[in-house]
Amino acid sequence: MKDKNTTTYRILFGLYAVVIIGLFLYSRNMSNRTFVVTDKTKVGYGTAIYMTHECSKEWKETATDGFDRGKEFDFTIVNNTESDIRSWQAEIGFADDFKIDSAWNGDFGKNDHTLSVVPDDNTAQLAGGEVKNFGLVMHCREEQEVSDFKLYYNANVRMTDSPLFWIILAAFIITLTVYATDVLNRRKYKNLRQRQEEIQAILLESFTTFANIIDAKDPYTQGHSLRVAEYARLIAGKMGYSEAERERVYWIGMLHDIGKIGITDVILQKPGKLDNEEYTTIKTHVDIGGAILSDFNALPDIADGARYHHERWDGKGYSKHISGKDIPEIARIICIADSFDAMTSPRVYRKAMPIDFAKEELQKCAGTQFDPDIVPVMIELIDEGVVPIEIKETIKWELSE
Ligand SMILES: [Fe+2]
Repeated sequence: MKDKNTTTYRILFGLYAVVIIGLFLYSRNMSNRTFVVTDKTKVGYGTAIYMTHECSKEWKETATDGFDRGKEFDFTIVNNTESDIRSWQAEIGFADDFKIDSAWNGDFGKNDHTLSVVPDDNTAQLAGGEVKNFGLVMHCREEQEVSDFKLYYNANVRMTDSPLFWIILAAFIITLTVYATDVLNRRKYKNLRQRQEEIQAILLESFTTFANIIDAKDPYTQGHSLRVAEYARLIAGKMGYSEAERERVYWIGMLHDIGKIGITDVILQKPGKLDNEEYTTIKTHVDIGGAILSDFNALPDIADGARYHHERWDGKGYSKHISGKDIPEIARIICIADSFDAMTSPRVYRKAMPIDFAKEELQKCAGTQFDPDIVPVMIELIDEGVVPIEIKETIKWELSE
């Protein structure tokens, strides 16, 4: 997710940069150009800079040289763009010869029928939207009209004059905001994930400590709880449990024998066979375990794992004597995992049984002791060599002689 998003942001920021650079180069190029307006009616850069003229006064006068007419011409330059006009110059052609009487708002020169105008300090600069006037009074003959003109100018074109600049700027700000939010969210998510991993580690270590406490009560079954938990998780995996469910099964497997905490060490650590009374006592560990875990609401099945893991498929187990699918699935899984580890681990009164023997026992007891649908799952794990596993003891203790 991170890489894909970062690439998208990079592409977008790159695109904005390209457009802004393009606009900058365009405006610089336009600022360096000299525009010429020659059309008397519609002219110029962006068709929005133009010059109008009118003959505002006309009169007759006495003259011996034929220039017996007075005329006042007024010119207007209109800058209807957003850009400033930096400098301008006009050449206005007249149909007939003339003599300049007076002129304003510029320096005027005459060459044949052409009037040249260079703006003065007041008229040289034309901001966007501004209008400037200049004009002259001339002596001329009968007919006199503006025949043509040329208006030269340079414009200060800024990239901010273009609406595209503002669109890109808005898009940039929006993208930047989204990007910053995204980065903050990712950081928050990362912190949350770190916290979750910490909690997970605390949970694992707490459960492992509990499992070690349980196994420490019965030194002949070192690592039993951890192995059963792992076998149960592997079985659940093969049965299609999700990752979260497999983890749940693992925790439950770890504490399945927690009831042994309530059994006296004399019985748990007795070498050799137990008598009937002792066996009855040790069987109570399932109910003790169920009671200990009954308030463990975060893992609702955990008490079931402890309470029912010695029930049998045929109903001859203990302590509730329930059978078949009345036994919670978690307990049926743990029952197989527990029995397999009991068989394949050494006891004080016997050696560890061979794997093949344990496998045969499981198959033989499928449908009597064990859930016949779950036994094949365990057999598959054995055949694949996934089980048995070695669990290194996390605590060390010495057996008293
Ligand atoms: Fe048990």
